[in-house]
Amino acid sequence: MFATFLLRNCFKRPRLKYIYDKNSFSCFVCHILITFVTPKTEIMASKTIRLEKISRFYHVGSEIVKALQEVDISITKNEFVALMGPSGSGKSTLMNVLGCLDTPTSGHYFLNELDVSKMSDNDLAEIRNKEIGFVFQTFNLLPRSTALENVMLPLIYAGVSKQVRIRRAEETLASVQLADRMHHRPNELSGGQRQRVAIARALVNKPSLILADEPTGNLDSKTSVEIISLLEEIHQLGNTIVLVTHEEDIAEHAHRIIRLRDGIVEEDKPNENIISYNKSELVNA
Ligand SMILES: Nc1ncnc2c1ncn2[C@@H]1O[C@H](COP(=O)(O)OP(=O)(O)OP(=O)(O)O)[C@@H](O)[C@H]1O
Ligand SMILES: [Mg+2]
Repeated sequence: MFATFLLRNCFKRPRLKYIYDKNSFSCFVCHILITFVTPKTEIMASKTIRLEKISRFYHVGSEIVKALQEVDISITKNEFVALMGPSGSGKSTLMNVLGCLDTPTSGHYFLNELDVSKMSDNDLAEIRNKEIGFVFQTFNLLPRSTALENVMLPLIYAGVSKQVRIRRAEETLASVQLADRMHHRPNELSGGQRQRVAIARALVNKPSLILADEPTGNLDSKTSVEIISLLEEIHQLGNTIVLVTHEEDIAEHAHRIIRLRDGIVEEDKPNENIISYNKSELVNA
């Protein structure tokens, strides 16, 4: 494992590549290692999410609420998954665990093969900022900040310089068709535009995982179509998306549908009826 890491990183450097080319013995050893060790690492790394017997219990007075019970789920890089289930079935609890906002009572959560279930709060905050983009039903934008300032926020936590922050936030807002609304505050934007700002904020750090908890829950049906189309485009660009929704027609855009009931995975299967909107059908809010 360590050797693979060294090899894969060192070969990016021209000087070591030269040694590899010129020295036939090290060439042979390297070749064997790359052939037999690297593919396994790549297969492992393609699993963005791996949950092993994840449980989350809440203690309320003398009662124990079993919000999640021994949930086993794996999600591969670039999957688009819808999470469904009746109210109280554990969807938000699961999203909070996936987003490292909450730690499970028991079980293991591997994010990009890193066991995050036992990490400290500081480490979790760093993982959240680097690896995860959140989109919420209620947008969760700072009301007194402009769209640009809202989108720049994760980059401040990531220690990115001001100049780069502005450039990346502008580019990301332009990519969600908000180039002409960058200096508007949330109350000067429509619901769909607010959600697009929130999506830009989720994307600006180039996370490996986008978590969207009922992103269309507060939107009318026309605007919901616009937002789900945007998530489709983001998925097509190579992102992994987990989307919570109550609406079957929204879930039909995902490629896999997981249904929860009473904190247990009731059904997990590919969506054989994927609905997809053409970009030309997109209507600006
Ligand atoms: N902080 C908490 N303390 C105690 N119980 C909680 C807490 N958060 C959630 N629960 C309970 O855990 C269960 C799962 O809640 P969760 O919010 O995950 O459901 P949900 O599927 O997201 O529901 P909805 O569709 O209504 O948003 C519910 O029975 C809820 O009452
Ligand atoms: Mg919920």
